[in-house]
Amino acid sequence: MTYIAPSLLAADYAHLADEIKKVEDAGANYLHLDIMDGAFVPNISFGPELVASIRKTTQLIFDVHLMINDPIRYVDRFVRAGADMITFHVESTDDPEAVIRAIASHEMRVGIAISPKTPIEAILPYLPKLSQVTVMTVEPGFGGQELMMPMLDKVRLLRRYAMEHGLKLDIEVDGGVNPDNVGYCTGAGANVIVAGSAIFKSKKPRSVIFGMKESAKLNPFLG
Ligand code: DX5
Ligand code: ZN
Repeated sequence: MTYIAPSLLAADYAHLADEIKKVEDAGANYLHLDIMDGAFVPNISFGPELVASIRKTTQLIFDVHLMINDPIRYVDRFVRAGADMITFHVESTDDPEAVIRAIASHEMRVGIAISPKTPIEAILPYLPKLSQVTVMTVEPGFGGQELMMPMLDKVRLLRRYAMEHGLKLDIEVDGGVNPDNVGYCTGAGANVIVAGSAIFKSKKPRSVIFGMKESAKLNPFLG
């Protein structure tokens, strides 16, 4: 099954509750929440208070993507705000094991994200402890960029590695995904699809999400 995770970064912030309802009604599975600190990435988004507010408006699974330095400082805050899973960047901490432990101590799904310049070897040791890996298909920091196709090689290698090692791993692609290229992502082995602009900026989000799910069915990972 492929999960569609609209990224709130592309929503109209003046009407958040309506925007979230729109994608929930349109068939989204997760709500992807991009947390940016203006230091790890050159942009600032929103924090745990906003997450806590929108938590009351929706049943969607909250997929929190931390793009912040030293993420362990904020794990508890995002747990209390209503995260269902928390993903941090392997590049953002000296001690990924400690961050994994901190997230897992809340019985929460743990994810690690890798930026385009980071090779997959940087995260292989942690895979047995993870529920999800996020392969960044753009430089983190901004929505609306173009998907970097070479990143799908990382997805392919990770999917093969997970299968060979008997790991049950969700692989998420994040950045520049749209109905035209989503098939390449699922064909490479991704099963969680983040899409900000493609869904929130569309007048027909239901068709976009439906189209992505259909395309995923037609393009399964074949090895
Ligand atoms: C980028 C974020 C992405 C981004 C995706 O740093 O992690 O989640 O919002 O947006 P689109 O789909 O517009 O590239
Ligand atoms: Zn993201």
